Amino acid sequence: MPKALIVYGSTTGNTEITARRIEETMRENGIDVVVKNVIDTEVGEVGNGYDVTLLGVSTWGDDSIEFQEDFEPFYERLDEVRLEGKKVALFGCGDSSYQYFCGAVDELENKMQSLDADIVNTPLRIDGSPDDADAEIVAWARNVAESI
Ligand SMILES: Cc1cc2nc3c(=O)[nH]c(=O)nc-3n(C[C@H](O)[C@H](O)[C@H](O)COP(=O)(O)O)c2cc1C
Repeated sequence: MPKALIVYGSTTGNTEITARRIEETMRENGIDVVVKNVIDTEVGEVGNGYDVTLLGVSTWGDDSIEFQEDFEPFYERLDEVRLEGKKVALFGCGDSSYQYFCGAVDELENKMQSLDADIVNTPLRIDGSPDDADAEIVAWARNVAESI
């Protein structure tokens, strides 16, 4: 059975809810899924023994892009991991009334490109509550499941 790791950083719970919905959908599509809060995760786990690693993070800050606080130190250490050709998928929650909508997802995308990771599917950027984006989340997660 293909295996997926989902790592999320979430302050008010929206990115966690999104991660759980992705998990549920991928399981229904035959994937063995492990979900972890970023505070319990080592960077070395990314891509290590998984067919795809999904990274989810919310965006904070006002006139600059700030990662969700638990995710920031994890992000800073991603350069230590060899990710060439490893499949990753990216998602996050934000609010389009801010200047940098889902800016942390953009920065993560740049980082994955610089590490030559294989980004599957277009990164998922949720505007507002994930409950209002359920169909979009499910369709995106199915697409990721089909890519491995
Ligand atoms: C002080 C503050 C700053 C924020 N800055 C941004 C931002 O720059 N870009 C964005 O897309 N969303 C921004 N947001 C919205 C959050 O990312 C959004 O509420 C998200 O759903 C939180 O996800 P979480 O509960 O998983 O942490 C901000 C929210 C707050 C309260």
